[in-house]
Amino acid sequence: MAGKLKNGWKGRDVISSLDFTRESFELLFSASKEFADGDRARSDLLRGKVVATAFFEPSTRTRLSFSSAAAKLGASVIDLSTEVSSLAKGESFSDTLAMLDSYSDIIVLRHPSEGAALYASEICRHPVVNAGDGSQHHPTQAMLDLFTVLRLKGRVDGLNYLFVGDLRYSRTVSSLLFALTRYKPGRVTLTSPPALGLKPETKSILERYGMSVREEQDIERSVGSADVIYVTRLQKERIPDQAEYQKLKGSYRLTEGLLEATKADCIVMHPLPRTDELPTSLDASPKAAYMKQAGLGVPVRMALLSLILGVA
Ligand code: NCD
Repeated sequence: MAGKLKNGWKGRDVISSLDFTRESFELLFSASKEFADGDRARSDLLRGKVVATAFFEPSTRTRLSFSSAAAKLGASVIDLSTEVSSLAKGESFSDTLAMLDSYSDIIVLRHPSEGAALYASEICRHPVVNAGDGSQHHPTQAMLDLFTVLRLKGRVDGLNYLFVGDLRYSRTVSSLLFALTRYKPGRVTLTSPPALGLKPETKSILERYGMSVREEQDIERSVGSADVIYVTRLQKERIPDQAEYQKLKGSYRLTEGLLEATKADCIVMHPLPRTDELPTSLDASPKAAYMKQAGLGVPVRMALLSLILGVA
C-alpha cells in the first residue's frame, strides 16, 4: 500500500518522518492531546479492528505502547512471535507479511534492515507503520518526541536542541532531526565522539531541507544554551566491529555536573533503553523528561492508530 495521500492520515503508511508535513504533525498532536489529557482516554473507537505487531528486533516501549494504545481503543492485537512462528521453519518475509496483511487492519513492523517497512508497505494492502527499521528511521518515536517537547516546553519552534551520543547509528536521532525540518528550531547542536557523528547521507538530507546543524565535540561548551538535550545509547547491535564498540563504550555520559550547567528549564530526553550514558542519579531532577516521554508513547500511538484507521 505504498504511496498515499499527501494530506490526511486515513489509510496511510508511516515509513519516514520525512513523509509528513507540519500540518499532519499538528493534526496528530491535537488528537494525541485529547488522549493524553484523558478526554478520550478509553473508548471503543477501534472495536472490531485488529492491529498486528511484528517485531524482528527487541523492543519494550514501542511494542508495548502500540499494544496498550490498541487495547485502550478496543482493538485486538495479534503479535507475530518471530521465534515461534513459521519464520523458524524458513518461511519468507514476504509470505509472512502477506499472512499478517490478511489477518489484520494495520501492521506495526520493526526490523533490523533499512527499507524493510517500505518493502512491507509495497506488499501489504493494509497500512504499515514503521516501528524502527535499520539505523535511520523510527518515525513514530520522532512523533512522540516532538509531542513531548510540545507538552513540556509549549512549542517546538525557536528552541535550542542538543543531541548527545551515538548519532551515527541512532535512528531516533535522524528521525527526530528529519521531523524538525518541518519546524523552525533554534540552534541544533550535535555532540558525539568523532566515530559516532551523524552520517553524511543524513546531513545531506538535512541540508536539502535547509536545516543547519553545528557539530561541537566538547559537550561542556554546548550544554549551557540547550533547551532540549536528547541523549542516545551506543547502538551496540548496529556497530559493525565489536572491537570498535569496546573502544567507544563509556565514551560519553551526561553527568550531574553537566546537568547543573544547563538552563533551569532545560529538559533531558532519551528514547530509552539507557545504558551508562544517562546515570539513574539524574532521574530525580525536574529536568529529567525521559520517563514522561516514554509514557506519552501511548496517547501518540492512540492518535496515530485512530487517524490511520479513519476513526479519529
Ligand atoms: C530506540 C530504538 O529502537 O531505536 N528505542 C525505542 O524505540 N524507544 C532507541 C534505542 O534502542 O536505543
